[in-house]
Amino acid sequence: MKISIIGTGNLGLAIAKGILSAEKLGVETLCLTKRNPKSLESWGQSYDNVVVTSDNHEAVAAADVVIFAVQPGQLTDMLMDLKSSLKAGQHTIISTITGKKLADFEAILGHDFALIRSMPNTAAAVGQSMTCISGNSKAEGKLNLAKEILGTLGDVMVIEESLMQAATVVCASGIAFWMRLIRATTQGAIQLGFDAPEAQHMAVQTCLGAASLLQNGGAHPESEIDRVTTPKGCTIEGLNEMEHQGLSSALIKGLVTSFNKIEDIKKSS
Ligand SMILES: NC(=O)c1ccc[n+]([C@@H]2O[C@H](COP(=O)([O-])OP(=O)(O)OC[C@H]3O[C@@H](n4cnc5c(N)ncnc54)[C@H](OP(=O)(O)O)[C@@H]3O)[C@@H](O)[C@H]2O)c1
Repeated sequence: MKISIIGTGNLGLAIAKGILSAEKLGVETLCLTKRNPKSLESWGQSYDNVVVTSDNHEAVAAADVVIFAVQPGQLTDMLMDLKSSLKAGQHTIISTITGKKLADFEAILGHDFALIRSMPNTAAAVGQSMTCISGNSKAEGKLNLAKEILGTLGDVMVIEESLMQAATVVCASGIAFWMRLIRATTQGAIQLGFDAPEAQHMAVQTCLGAASLLQNGGAHPESEIDRVTTPKGCTIEGLNEMEHQGLSSALIKGLVTSFNKIEDIKKSS
């Protein structure tokens, strides 16, 4: 497989690291582009199969999978420019670009390309992304390939494109929501007597432990809550106080508010 990443910034580099660490992908060449590729030169020197260039046409010609990872405002001009080099029979296209629909690609490239839209989150940098993907009708046979490539960044779920905005809120904005919950737990732990590094360590590991119980044990959150809430005990008292203060309601309302904000931004742009 020959992969080119067009726009190797923060996310593009995380994808490159994931791809290079996954030997089973069997990547023959990985081409990385940037307008100013100086910061990528060491990659070309460290890996025999990595090519670094500022020439997007050269990168596209050398690939069978083209991953677009530029900023949203840069895409249209780039696609217009690359249209002559992109070949539907040769290229599978994966986009990581927030807010850009499959139809936006089809409006420029036509309907013959296998196109996959993806929404990773910033945990891609540490191989723990929750990445949602959806493809157009031509991409049906290519979703597993996209899952393999993006699976090097963490977990991948195939969803309907109509749910991509909701997935953006749950998974991409979700990183900020979980950070704030962890931070608040840390602040509480400091008030109870731990120093800041200890408090953060305890908050992070407890959060990881809770998530792992659900991921590895397959349990429902409420059954795990039942296991730690002794009748008349301290945990249920604290948990009920959090709910009286609106914990679940605040989270749900926050998710819906973020979703609605994207709707407002779309209407005004
Ligand atoms: N970061 C994340 O975790 C994340 C998560 C979900 C979605 N996304 C989406 O992924 C995309 C990339 O995000 P990012 O955080 O990686 O952005 P970024 O760090 O700004 O990377 C974009 C890269 O594109 C390069 N670029 C711009 N114009 C180019 C051109 N004509 N040819 C070749 N390269 C070009 C830029 O480098 P030069 O200026 O040197 O060309 C830059 O390195 C965005 O659309 C973002 O919405 C990111």
